[in-house]
Amino acid sequence: EVFSLIMAGGGGTRFWPLSRHAMPKQFLNISGNDTLINETIDRISSVISPSKTFVVTNKNQQAVLEQVLRDDIPKENVLYEPIGRNTAACIAYAALVIKKRYGDGILAVFPSDHYVTDRDGFVLVLKRCLEIAASTDSLVTIGIQPTFPATGYGYIRYDASVPVGDWAYRVEEFVEKPNFEKAKAYVRSGKYLWNSGMFVWKVSVILENFRRFLPRLYNKLAELEPYLDTPQEEEVLARIYPQLPDISIDYGILERSDDVVVVPGDFGWNDVGSWDALGAIFPPDEQGNIVRGQHVGLNTRDCVIYGNGRLIATINVKDLIIVETPDALLVCPKANAQDVKLIVERLKENP
Ligand code: GDD
Ligand code: MG
Repeated sequence: EVFSLIMAGGGGTRFWPLSRHAMPKQFLNISGNDTLINETIDRISSVISPSKTFVVTNKNQQAVLEQVLRDDIPKENVLYEPIGRNTAACIAYAALVIKKRYGDGILAVFPSDHYVTDRDGFVLVLKRCLEIAASTDSLVTIGIQPTFPATGYGYIRYDASVPVGDWAYRVEEFVEKPNFEKAKAYVRSGKYLWNSGMFVWKVSVILENFRRFLPRLYNKLAELEPYLDTPQEEEVLARIYPQLPDISIDYGILERSDDVVVVPGDFGWNDVGSWDALGAIFPPDEQGNIVRGQHVGLNTRDCVIYGNGRLIATINVKDLIIVETPDALLVCPKANAQDVKLIVERLKENP
């Protein structure tokens, strides 16, 4: 059987003031169609049934999740973590639940806050990954052609001369979030792909990898096994989770395993990391502006203008991000889009 896991417990600070601690990016309707999390589920639903889809998020996001989540996800498939312990713990927890309920199966793991423009292209790649994971014990990743030396992504070096089946390649090296110098060299070499953050593997295989590479996490979580799907689950989770190592699946497993393959994918993937990335999703108007809400502009070019009720007027401005919400207003040059998270940090210190 095939299962999917939507990881939805991340904080997301670079879309402030639209995103808040209690309202991170995955729950925002950035496209105007639906929230990123529901679009993620919709995108995979022709391949993996929503009834076999699991969502893992933080307990403090329960209210907002219940408000936005599609109603075809079974309640018992929504798992709440008492505190965030990064993606390794999130994946191991869900894998243990699936193991208990179904024995084994193929598990496809997705971030909840990405955007994909070519859905058919995505579905094709996902089907290829599922086939490889079903017929091998490899960890299957989806690789994206890099376009700039991003330091916030994982890099996957693959051997083009060692194809695995018809669509995949053996991974020679997985490097999570390299520094800028390394990222530049990787992109220039033409031998690396970005890690999309989507993974496919057998439940039994990933659990074996946890046992091998993250034994402390595995052994601690295994204490939970007898209590899964019982009234004691929440209480035992609250005791165990703070003791789990805070590590991502990328550092914890992907960098260490020697049986990783990559399926290159080209389907308009964008992780919509910050306000300036909206341009990749919405075609700008003739003036180069991306506008939500009401805006009047005189000589206004290449701006991102996101209104939430009030009329926004601009005169003679260029390359600005302007975001208006009922209780906060952001104005910043596009070049500083990454620094929005610094504001969030400052507010944490001095609210
Ligand atoms: N349930 C749960 N619990 N979900 C989490 C947690 C957690 O503790 N931490 C993060 N998530 C969710 C986020 O909401 C997001 O959907 C996904 O897991 C990935 O986490 P990020 O924090 O966004 O990871 P990243 O962007 O720094 O890096 C990953 O994604 C990149 C591509 O966007 C890595 O896989 C990189 O290698 C990859 O290039
Ligand atoms: Mg991310």
